[in-house]
Amino acid sequence: MSYKVGILAMYLTGRKLEEVSYFRKLSVTGRKMGIEVLVFTPDDVVDSGERVLALSYNPEQKSWVRKKVSFPPIIYDRCRYHGTNNYQKLMRFRTTYSKLHFMSRPLANKWKMHQILSEEDRIASHLPSTVRYQGTEELKSFLKRHSVVFLKPSNGTGGRGILRLLRTKDSEVCLMQGRDPNRRILPIQHIHVDRLHDKLQSWKIADRYIMQQGIPLQLPDGRVHDYRMLVQKDGAGKWQVTGCAGRIGPSKSVTSNLHGGGTAIAMEVLLRKRFGSSDKVEEIRRTAYALGLNTVKHLESKFGKIIEVGIDLAVDPKGNVWLLEVNPKPSREVFHRIGDSQTYQKAIRRPLEYALWLLKQKSPNSEQKADP
Ligand SMILES: Nc1ncnc2c1ncn2[C@@H]1O[C@H](COP(=O)(O)OP(=O)(O)O)[C@@H](O)[C@H]1O
Ligand SMILES: [Mg+2]
Repeated sequence: MSYKVGILAMYLTGRKLEEVSYFRKLSVTGRKMGIEVLVFTPDDVVDSGERVLALSYNPEQKSWVRKKVSFPPIIYDRCRYHGTNNYQKLMRFRTTYSKLHFMSRPLANKWKMHQILSEEDRIASHLPSTVRYQGTEELKSFLKRHSVVFLKPSNGTGGRGILRLLRTKDSEVCLMQGRDPNRRILPIQHIHVDRLHDKLQSWKIADRYIMQQGIPLQLPDGRVHDYRMLVQKDGAGKWQVTGCAGRIGPSKSVTSNLHGGGTAIAMEVLLRKRFGSSDKVEEIRRTAYALGLNTVKHLESKFGKIIEVGIDLAVDPKGNVWLLEVNPKPSREVFHRIGDSQTYQKAIRRPLEYALWLLKQKSPNSEQKADP
């Protein structure tokens, strides 16, 4: 195998890697394409920063083996946010080895991301009204304008620490539901708005929250839903929407994230159930796809080259498409869950095809030498 692609990962507690099964699939797919996938973390750098002790998957033995190799010529950064220590370690690595070619980069927290996306008119019209959480006074007036408000930690992921407030007839009291910072579903509470501040304060994250207009996403059975779109660069360096699938949250949940117990369903099936007419479904699909592509292009103009993003989209009862969140290190499990193995395979292949395209551009005529 002449081409090498590095995957930058991060050890979690007990030296566990978060996405080993994805890395294994990348390795197996890569091998068929003539690519060796090498997984390493900032803790695996050896020989005074010259080489890394990387993991390489051996499909015959179905096991990972350690190899000492030079830094791969192209690197797929899969480090997700796991607190400030981890984040700082990643940033230190990226700064120290800034000469390496990273195919992906950290983007921005939810608040910064909202501000950046608002700059582009074609995206701004799809953004729910969003402000920084600054205290209960602002929250009260926000609740006057929007009957449903989401409070979300700017750095949160996977539905952790998300609260949904519903305005009641008594303007001082709202109905609160959500998940705690460990993603446990909170019981429904009637809560006085003045007590919300203490509530958020006790999680020590009050000033890091955003407030967002809630989009009505309840299905007839009361469960909430949304869509996950995967937008990726292809083997010619062009943006493509690889796929989009619906997610339905478990009952009593205000979030639909799969890791929070959500189930997946094909986008067309869900849209057809809600809107019936295929013209309407097609119109929504087209709007969503255009929004996905506009979003990645805008982000790339702001952050520099990126490889893929996962976009959380909502479709309200009128069929309006809303952008809820952009994920810079998206998983592709939703396509596996709906049984769409073709899209799932494509979602795994594309980062490698893009890497190959980049590598061939770097050295159009010369094949790279294999490591000794
Ligand atoms: N403004 C909103 N209106 C309705 N539902 C929302 C809203 N924001 C978030 N949600 C629900 O909460 C989930 C998690 O929110 P998201 O912003 O994607 O944060 P996370 O980073 O935790 O995934 C969404 O997938 C959606 O189900
Ligand atoms: Mg999300």
